[in-house]
Amino acid sequence: MTIEVRVPDIGDFDTVEIIEVFVQAGSSVQENEALLLLESDKATMEVPSPAAGTIESLQVAVGDKVSQGDLVALLTESVAAAEAAPAVHAEAAPIPAAEHAPRSESATEKPPASTPVAAVSTARPALAQLEVPAAAGPGPLPYASPSVRRLARELGVDLAQLTGSGRKGRIRDEDVRQFVKAAMSGAQPVAASSNGLPTMPEVDFAKFGPTETRPLSRIRKLSARNLHRNWVIVPHVTQFETADITELDAFRRSESQRGGVKFTLLPFFMKAAAVALKKFPEFNSSLDASGENLVYKQYTHIGFAAETEQGLVVPVVRDVDRKTVTDLAEEASALAAKAREGKLSPAEMQGGCFSISSLGGIGGSHFTPIVNAPEVAILGVSRAAQQPVWDGQSFQPRLMLPLSLSYDHRVIDGAAAARFVVTYAELLTDPRRLLL
Ligand code: COA
Repeated sequence: MTIEVRVPDIGDFDTVEIIEVFVQAGSSVQENEALLLLESDKATMEVPSPAAGTIESLQVAVGDKVSQGDLVALLTESVAAAEAAPAVHAEAAPIPAAEHAPRSESATEKPPASTPVAAVSTARPALAQLEVPAAAGPGPLPYASPSVRRLARELGVDLAQLTGSGRKGRIRDEDVRQFVKAAMSGAQPVAASSNGLPTMPEVDFAKFGPTETRPLSRIRKLSARNLHRNWVIVPHVTQFETADITELDAFRRSESQRGGVKFTLLPFFMKAAAVALKKFPEFNSSLDASGENLVYKQYTHIGFAAETEQGLVVPVVRDVDRKTVTDLAEEASALAAKAREGKLSPAEMQGGCFSISSLGGIGGSHFTPIVNAPEVAILGVSRAAQQPVWDGQSFQPRLMLPLSLSYDHRVIDGAAAARFVVTYAELLTDPRRLLL
């Protein structure tokens, strides 16, 4: 007897796409064996054979869009099956694909063999209602839909190396593409599982109100990757201090008024850092690749964070120890202008030993900057403010500058960090010491 196999109830969808066909004309099939795989943007679903038999002909192919009731195949029912459950046509019962497991393991989703097909076809959930099965999740097998598996096969990607960004860690085609992109650019793909943390759930923000999606700039994506890596790898501690810069500020203002160079505080911060790095050489070091040796640098190149429309960049001023504050003022302002125009060359952002992140022009008090690894420390500078300071007899108004020194605790001890930041503050308090 010939059975017409038709597309089952697909819920709210008018059409869904056939993304895989598992059989061909002449294939013998068992009852409930998957014949095709349908995919909407929400779920995938297998169309099982309503009976055991042989596929007489297939009416559809991969890529076809089908609707409920469309004829997909003619099936010649085997004699034994026909005797058990005669039928002239059947709307096959849809079966949600167990996306994390090979097809053979989706048997748990199939109706019991003894359940009559007709009863099953109404009892199964429609495509639109399908959720990932409760048991689904990252298991020993990569958790991905068949179409993503196929994409991975085509691109030669081992899904076991990926952790998905989809619900419950499902690997999406976007994850596969990102992985390939990262591999092609020579960058280390940041597998979300590399630190064993659960992946961020995918949230449909539009459910809660209007949204607009904009791509991240190239700089923001790059710095996000580096910041994330440094945040995860470097054990950070941040030491706070407040420096009295009353005299320093008066000095830089009077020097600026003499004309020529405009002195902001940044070149003084850089000069003081160079002096402090000489005094505390472990702050001018990096762990080598083995993590077993410290590389001490005999040069003093200092980076400073600069805000640009495209994101954060860190131009590096070379040999700060050998330059005057005037040189540093000119060079830093030229580099900051170049950064804002997006014209910094890679060489101008390389080779830094220590970084300064100055938010003083904006405001705020202490913050906790992220170490710019492989450097081992970074100084965060916030906005100086007039504060009453006790001089032993009375309170005096003093210009106090908040400092935040974050450091890599694998390399630097807390006591050393406290000494460094206290020395640094003293250098700013008495700028004559910068000349020594
Ligand atoms: N306290 C008080 N005033 C400060 C200050 C501080 N810590 N730092 C700067 N200022 C003052 C400056 O002296 C200047 O005032 P003035 O015109 O009266 O002299 C004003 O604030 C603006 O300074 P700014 O434009 O910030 O110059 P700068 O040389 O201090 O800084 C950059 C240059 C490149 C650091 C700055 O433009 C920038 O991009 N800052 C943001 C850095 C950033 O995003 N960091 C975040 C990293 S996570």
